[in-house]
Amino acid sequence: MTLPIAVLVSGRGSNLQAILDACASAELDARVAIVVSNHAGVPALQRAALAGVPSAVFTVRAYADRDAAHTAMAATIAGIGAELVVLAGFDHILAPVFFVRLRGVPVINLHPALLPLFGGRGMHGDKVHQAVLSSGATESGCTVHRVHPETVDLGEVVVQRRVPVLPGDDAATLAARVLDEEHIAIVEAIRRFVPAEAVTRV
Ligand code: GRF
Repeated sequence: MTLPIAVLVSGRGSNLQAILDACASAELDARVAIVVSNHAGVPALQRAALAGVPSAVFTVRAYADRDAAHTAMAATIAGIGAELVVLAGFDHILAPVFFVRLRGVPVINLHPALLPLFGGRGMHGDKVHQAVLSSGATESGCTVHRVHPETVDLGEVVVQRRVPVLPGDDAATLAARVLDEEHIAIVEAIRRFVPAEAVTRV
């Protein structure tokens, strides 16, 4: 069964693109039912439009507060029948009401490091890669993990992919190497949620 998913984005959308491409090539038995952003006018929304996928924008500014924005966002996602929520470069922590409204729908997030290392509040973007470099670690990578209310980067790991940290790396070169693996990991993680085909024996 083709899995209907909602992808939440905030910016560039290269991971969204990897998901759209995998769905289009039938490499992944899933369908992006909606792209949701918390910022208007970001490149990820253009990617959705080019792929003919509906999108919606929920800025906190347009609502009373984060709870109200995330309640409206969850209602839209529930209404479209998404069976998996994928945070692919989404830069807000989801309000607990989001999970209440979407009870039973799994939520996964992509993080550009090997959790539980280099995660938690405030650890995003180049800060993550800078922390990896400062630690002297010889490898990094990315993690797709489950998301639960009131926690950041602590949910069960779904997929991890590793990359070496190379001599001379800076945050930009390491980020680029990790990003290539993110594009593979996010598709692999979504695949884990696609219901297995019923086996018919004759
Ligand atoms: C990725 O590095 C992801 O791990 C992090 O945000 C970035 C999003 O990149 N959560 P993109 O918007 O998918 O290109």
